Amino acid sequence: MEILVTGGAGFIGSHTCVELLNAGYEVVVVDNLMNSKQEALDRVREITGKEVLFYNIDLLDKDALSKVFLKHEIRAVIHFAGLKAVGESVSLPLKYYHNNITGTLNLCEVMEEFGVHQLVFSSSATVYGLQDCVPFHEELPLQATNPYGRTKLMIEEILRDLYVSNKKWSIALLRYFNPVGAHPSGLIGEDPNGIPNNLVPYITQVAIGKLAKISVLGNDYSTDDGTGVRDYIHVLDLAVGHLKALEKVSFTTGVEAYNLGTGRGYSVLEMIATFEKVTGNSIPYEIVDRRPGDIAVSYADPTKAKNNLNWISQKGLIDMCEDSWRWQMNNPNGFGEVGLIKSGNKTFMK
Ligand code: NAD
Ligand code: UFG
Repeated sequence: MEILVTGGAGFIGSHTCVELLNAGYEVVVVDNLMNSKQEALDRVREITGKEVLFYNIDLLDKDALSKVFLKHEIRAVIHFAGLKAVGESVSLPLKYYHNNITGTLNLCEVMEEFGVHQLVFSSSATVYGLQDCVPFHEELPLQATNPYGRTKLMIEEILRDLYVSNKKWSIALLRYFNPVGAHPSGLIGEDPNGIPNNLVPYITQVAIGKLAKISVLGNDYSTDDGTGVRDYIHVLDLAVGHLKALEKVSFTTGVEAYNLGTGRGYSVLEMIATFEKVTGNSIPYEIVDRRPGDIAVSYADPTKAKNNLNWISQKGLIDMCEDSWRWQMNNPNGFGEVGLIKSGNKTFMK
């Protein structure tokens, strides 16, 4: 019996493959490599000493996906595949709706056809939208503020409807807070295309000198130091959360949402200060205007995952920063091909 991992070459998917293989699961990955490199899976093999089967398939190609189900005895699916850049989703909404929603519909249709009803889905804390009370718990009313977030919200609803139609379905909706960190081996990690959108990869690229300085997006929020507060969660803790969710869906039915976060928030300035300590490098920053759509504070109430999945985050902020930094130092070009990046008066290989 095998586990199908869609988007398994990506950041969270590759770390989850490591945990699955280490736990003795057989793993089949489907990924079209639109935001990842096959090299990530070679590194997963290197870390685990185990084989991971890979199909370069787009979820939009339903026939190709069906062939994977024909060939393998898939028991359950962990579904990471999707586009995730909030800003890009605002300028290219149709691309996001088509890829994320049609891809998921195809996957669910094929699963139904082959009688596979166990699914773990990558949702996001973005489905809580603009809440003004923290921590966020699973029963809060949901809302989306951009097309990316709307795809997550819509998929959550589609999956609830699916269960209503067929009570064999067993689905975990995992709402991640802010995934950071990397495998402690330094072999796999987050490999953003071009200039990073998210705080942590931006900071590590400043710390290594690839980017000149970080823009702190607002210091007039109602937080202790005025900068935004987020619940950063180590990607390996997330990976373990997927294994716990997989166990859960294997002996229950229904649809349940779970927050995967630490329950503790850190501000942008705290993140910069911790990275300065861990890297020993100064991280220049400047305060600029707020980013439209950002909220002041977001952190999880992780009680439901603790009680129902027996999952709790283990790794602290220093682990997150040290592991992100090791990945950045060992792989200044990510998994990517060599090219040149210009930053100020410096030129780097990319
Ligand atoms: P990622 O981009 O590194 O991984 C996603 C993978 O899916 C990539 O390898 C990409 O090539 C693949 N993919 C995308 N569309 C596909 C398609 N149509 N067919 C086949 N493969 C396809 O992203 P990640 O950070 O690992 O995120 C994984 C999931 O978690 C995503 O669904 C994302 O929306 C969700 N999520 C991520 C974050 C975050 O901050 N990283 C936060 C909350 C939720
Ligand atoms: N920030 C900066 N400078 C930057 C980038 C970010 O100051 O260059 C700040 C933001 O204003 C925010 C914090 O750093 O206060 C974190 O920002 P990120 O962009 O790293 O993360 P977000 O919380 O905005 O969003 C992330 C993902 C979303 C996901 C959400 C919840 O990008 O897709 O976490 O999981 F929905």
